[in-house]
Amino acid sequence: MAISSLIIGYLVSPWILTTIPLWLVLYYIVPYFTTFSSLAGVPGPFLAKFSNLWVAFGARRGKKFEIVDKAHRKYGNVVRIGYNHVSIADERGLNVVYGHGNGFLKDHYYEAFVAKTPGMFNVRDRAEHTRKRKIIAHAFSPRSVAEFEPHMTANLERWVKQLDLIAAKAPPAEKYSKFNAMPWFSYLAFDIIGDLAFGSPFGMVNKGKDEAESQLVLNRRGEISSTLGLLPALRPIARYLPDPFFSKGVAAVENLTGIAIAAVAARLDAVGKDDAAERNDILARLIQARDAKGEPMGREELVAEALTQLIAGSDTISNTACACFYWILAGERANPGQIIPRLQKELDHSIGTTSDIAAYSQVRDLPFLRRCIDEAMRLHSTSALGLPRLVAEGPDVEFDGYYFPLGPFSPFRHIQFTTWLRYGRWLSLTPRQKTCFNPFSYGPRACVGQNVAIMELQLIIGTLFHRYDFCLFQQKMESHEGFSKKPRECFAGIQRRGIV
Ligand code: HEM
Repeated sequence: MAISSLIIGYLVSPWILTTIPLWLVLYYIVPYFTTFSSLAGVPGPFLAKFSNLWVAFGARRGKKFEIVDKAHRKYGNVVRIGYNHVSIADERGLNVVYGHGNGFLKDHYYEAFVAKTPGMFNVRDRAEHTRKRKIIAHAFSPRSVAEFEPHMTANLERWVKQLDLIAAKAPPAEKYSKFNAMPWFSYLAFDIIGDLAFGSPFGMVNKGKDEAESQLVLNRRGEISSTLGLLPALRPIARYLPDPFFSKGVAAVENLTGIAIAAVAARLDAVGKDDAAERNDILARLIQARDAKGEPMGREELVAEALTQLIAGSDTISNTACACFYWILAGERANPGQIIPRLQKELDHSIGTTSDIAAYSQVRDLPFLRRCIDEAMRLHSTSALGLPRLVAEGPDVEFDGYYFPLGPFSPFRHIQFTTWLRYGRWLSLTPRQKTCFNPFSYGPRACVGQNVAIMELQLIIGTLFHRYDFCLFQQKMESHEGFSKKPRECFAGIQRRGIV
């Protein structure tokens, strides 16, 4: 009783104001000298030594990848980016941090991405992740993935019809019709993943717009989660903060979950009554999946996993497809006659002059197309913010002369070779270059959907450059980052090719 009255007395007295600096010192500075003293020798921005505010502010502005990259250029390959957070831009860090069996877990950061129930992407517990991954991975086996092709083709057919209309609008004296390609990549990627993970496309391609603002909602969710992940104390009060970035972000998380619940419910209710319930898509594979005891996933887990696929398989594809489109055109602008004629020759030879949409069998093994895709993923890694891991068990870690006790740890994976647009290099990669190229991450938490991703990109980029000619109006492609790095816009001119 006496203690609580003392506390209340203190809270309402003028002393509270005069002692605020003291509390701040205790809160930020004491841990620097005590709990995290072993990180004192790691170089980094001054503010980052004491708090997460430096990196969180970068994330709030959608610029985390840029500020961390700049810090690496200034301070070297190992940089302290938060009071307990170190970033490594060195390929030797990949195995240390992401490799199998090293005792690292996904950091608490990922809890900010959980809507109701954790999905495969944001679950932190190792055993639970292994269980999920075992059940779900077979939905992404080469056989399953091949069955997704008709859904991709149907959406691509709708997409090229719309692009044909845009191409036909070229002013009379001009060859090309000008358009912003970025939203069109988004409409297509959302419709395909809606079709695969929820059982029907969102209808963005047909409408030529994102009427339900699903994409906006998804972007907001990524932005708020990647900021709140760094400032966990704000999570319970985020919806009440005066900055609308937070309240809109919280609403976005709820909104997306609602969409997933409705899609999964409609599909489960249709089983046995409706042919559409029997389609070959990701949701069907998730519904059929069984764990080691032969048990299916419950409805709540199914919703979480369908939502995971939607989130993981939409923006990543649209950002990468747009980057690929931009870098092919930018490569051609820098080296006329070196990129597009070569790509089109390869496509024409394989697809021929009659088919409109590329078939997977026609584009799967085209080496130059694959190099264009890889080069774009290297130049524009959509997952560039660093994927934080926690040294959670096992012995403390030593890297490059620095010593890391248990705590968060994040190698910044976007490494070195940033001015390197020479496609021929892909033919003779050095072992170091091979290790550095990790667009889908590495180890047990690497992308489970990478077969789907590569197939989709091959179909999109193959179809696009086979059917159209382009010119580039965009001087430089600017990006904004939530969880993934997104091109803001990409203005180009489009024209139907004579051959098809
Ligand atoms: C170019 C496209 C893509 C890129 C660059 C990409 C990249 C990545 C990366 C870097 C991770 C690791 C994330 C982390 O550690 O936090 C990841 C995980 C994941 N990706 Fe992808 N991804 C792409 C497309 C897809 C697609 C199309 C799907 C599904 C249809 C998908 C599903 C997933 C899932 C479920 C995870 C979590 C895996 C786990 O934790 O076990 N991704 N992806």
